Amino acid sequence: MKIKTENSVKIKTSLLCGFVLENSNNVLGLGKYDVKTTLAINQSLKDMEGKLGRISIIPMPGKNPAQRILLAGIGKKENLTNDTIRHVSGKIAQKSRELKLKEFSIITPPSFVIDQISSVTQIIEGCKMSLYKFDKFKAEKAEKSPDLTIIVSKSSKILHAIKTAEIVSEGAIFTKSIANLPPNECTPTTLANFARMISKKNKMKCYVISEPELKKKGFGGISAVGQGSKKEPKLIVLEHTHGPKNENPVVLVGKAVTFDTGGISLKPGDRMDEMKFDKCGGCTVLGIMKAVSELKLPINVVGIIPSVENMPSGESYRPGDIIKLYSGKTAEILNTDAEGRLILADALAYGEKQYTPKAIIDFATLTGACIVALGTNVAAIVSNDEKLTKRINESSKKTTEQVWELPLNQDYTDMIKSDVADMKNVGIGRAAGTITAAAFLKNAVEKTPWVHIDIAGVAWIQSATKEKSYNPKGATGFGVRLILDYLQNV
Ligand code: BES
Ligand code: MN
Ligand code: ZN
Repeated sequence: MKIKTENSVKIKTSLLCGFVLENSNNVLGLGKYDVKTTLAINQSLKDMEGKLGRISIIPMPGKNPAQRILLAGIGKKENLTNDTIRHVSGKIAQKSRELKLKEFSIITPPSFVIDQISSVTQIIEGCKMSLYKFDKFKAEKAEKSPDLTIIVSKSSKILHAIKTAEIVSEGAIFTKSIANLPPNECTPTTLANFARMISKKNKMKCYVISEPELKKKGFGGISAVGQGSKKEPKLIVLEHTHGPKNENPVVLVGKAVTFDTGGISLKPGDRMDEMKFDKCGGCTVLGIMKAVSELKLPINVVGIIPSVENMPSGESYRPGDIIKLYSGKTAEILNTDAEGRLILADALAYGEKQYTPKAIIDFATLTGACIVALGTNVAAIVSNDEKLTKRINESSKKTTEQVWELPLNQDYTDMIKSDVADMKNVGIGRAAGTITAAAFLKNAVEKTPWVHIDIAGVAWIQSATKEKSYNPKGATGFGVRLILDYLQNV
């Protein structure tokens, strides 16, 4: 999808789209038309009432520069959020593709409805993300995405916002497209190759640590979880260094279990296929790093992705094993299905030791308990730093990637004490599963402000997920837009 900007609503287009507030008698930003056309538009306005998500299309008579006009309801002004524009724009884009159009145009609503920067951002994110379709393995491919003209008063700020929104959406789409890959096609080595590919394109540094170095360097968690699979574990690192030389970086860590069978503590078969999405945290970090480098953000950012496949075999790690993590602390394994915290603990400790970061943020499809606690539209955050949490909350409001903080204090940390090692890899029964997992991670971070984001509920579309045009079936790329907003304002 190509994106153009235009000042006038009088451009030649196959579909001119405008937003309509609930029960209003005009299309926001639409120019004047002849009597006959105006009557048709007014009738359509009455019929669709500007109700959120409703769409109505009016064919135009021959001499109009627009072949059709599309009215898109955005509901009541007091309920309007960024997400409304993003979702409705996505619906418009999908409609244009359904009509097999080569291009369509959207009039940005005036600034008394929503500010211009937000509005172009949401329109582009909505249109681009809603047209992504995972059809790599289907003979019948999705129709080619139509091009978009945004009708807006141009300024350098707006043009910058447009370029940014394009890169950010492409980051999220990149995350979706690798997260959707099946586990037979996407192994830790595949992810390492994706990292190398984006590092080459955008001049980032990339290095990958494999066995036997992982074991030699003390990555006991990654080595243990990875040892049951024929697919070699990897620790993937990307460095974006566009900030001042002496400025400490932000470190992003993402869990990438390319398939989680549970290992010897085997999962039940029902919906086990969804555990191909257990790599989503790592894919989110890859998408963010791709966008950070394309945006050339003037900061230092490091992405660290521990990647393994968790399989049962004669070589697997076992319940009862005691392993030594990169931090030097020992962990008693009581359930091999609690594997994410082991590989993340290694990566977090490595990130802190190697880079003395000013902040660490990690993403992981870590606990089923997170879905029980918060459902499938809100991610859990657990942190050791109020300021950093506040920043993440601000970005969450802007991007509508929703988060909710859970508490973490000594009482929870006590729940992962082991009789025979420094920690055990599960808590007590099912109590506070998301927090006890975070408590395990906290032990890997000594002094750095840190936020853990459990994306188990939000990383892909599940049956309880709220429908959004810009998140079609499969992986959502959750976290990419959220953290890119944070990184643009650090
Ligand atoms: N990847 C899973 C968590 C998960 C499950 C995410 C379902 C999304 C949907 C994780 O590795 C896991 O298996 N966690 C266990 C931990 C338990 C053994 C302490 C869980 O949540 O059951
Ligand atoms: Mn697991
Ligand atoms: Zn897992």
